[in-house]
Amino acid sequence: MSISINLGSGDPEVEAPECVKEAIMKALKEGGNWTHYGGRDISRQFKESVIDYYKTLGPEYKLDNIIPTCGSTAALNVALGAVLDKGDEILMWEPSYSGHFSLLRKMGVKMSVAPLKEETGWHPDIDTLPEYVSSETKGVLICNPNNPTGTVFNEEELRVIGDLAVDHDFAILSDEIYLHFVYGDNKFVSTASLNGLKERTINIMSFSKTFSMTGYRLGYTIVPDRYLARANSLSGLNNRPASFVYAGGIAALRSDFSYVDERRKVYGERIDYICNALDDVEGISCIPSDGAFYAWFNIKELGIGSQEFCNRLRKEGVGMRPGRGFGLNTDHYVRAALVRPVSELKEAVAKVKNVVNSL
Ligand SMILES: Cc1ncc(COP(=O)(O)O)c(C=O)c1O
Repeated sequence: MSISINLGSGDPEVEAPECVKEAIMKALKEGGNWTHYGGRDISRQFKESVIDYYKTLGPEYKLDNIIPTCGSTAALNVALGAVLDKGDEILMWEPSYSGHFSLLRKMGVKMSVAPLKEETGWHPDIDTLPEYVSSETKGVLICNPNNPTGTVFNEEELRVIGDLAVDHDFAILSDEIYLHFVYGDNKFVSTASLNGLKERTINIMSFSKTFSMTGYRLGYTIVPDRYLARANSLSGLNNRPASFVYAGGIAALRSDFSYVDERRKVYGERIDYICNALDDVEGISCIPSDGAFYAWFNIKELGIGSQEFCNRLRKEGVGMRPGRGFGLNTDHYVRAALVRPVSELKEAVAKVKNVVNSL
């Protein structure tokens, strides 16, 4: 059966805001630098809009610190490559974004993976963190808010991670692409805004989720001076955004963010619905996510692995991601991307029940 409700990939169901589309159309019609290799002026305008935007989260950067990229996948390449060599070690957590694991594996970087535990609402155990650091540690990768658990790292956690980074002199790589999707009393804190951390924090940012611009391939990394030379040597024409796409990014960052506020509300309602509905299913437990837009649920009691569960669900016409890609010990979890309306999520939950009842 083909998939009729696709909750597999984190690709929002809606189009980018009108202001983004209009700005790109205008740039295309205008031509000139917008449709050629692009002048320095276009990337300068983009970087200025990034600086003004990020200032609202705390830190202020110089133009040189902003490196535009094709989406945050390219930003991750530049950021990780700026601090890590083959054989180096990185501190990170599981479950975490599958793309982080695959990229680091490709780079030959050793992963020291600390757990985010369901029992602690998917928060890190800050007391045991030093055990995951060694003389080889060159960086820590934080996904904040985290895909897939939605963990929003609180200030105390970020300070402990920051202290470790300062004491052992390693870099902090902060993937913040879901920062606008934070719910309830949770608050996103920019790691770079904390005392003394800006100079060692590299931010990884994207327009994909915030403005539903996955196909536009627009992102950037913010790199402090000490890692800049190496980051610049890794960035170039092959990972730079198309000139006219910058126009969309500028329009998005200079907008009033009402579009983003609306999306946050929509995703929050979806989380409220599906996490509770899944948690009510016999054999499944699901903690409502504090951030991002995923439901990450435990199927251990069902006695089948996550791939098998997803295969069975696919036969019911619903796509979800098996948990095993999101860590080393995550095979009894499944991720649903909440990129469809609640009416479809209801159908998806009914199909999950069918799978559970068939076991
Ligand atoms: C945490 C995280 N980082 C990076 C990416 C890559 O996104 P993009 O390359 O579209 O910016 C994703 C995509 O799902 C993600 O969840």
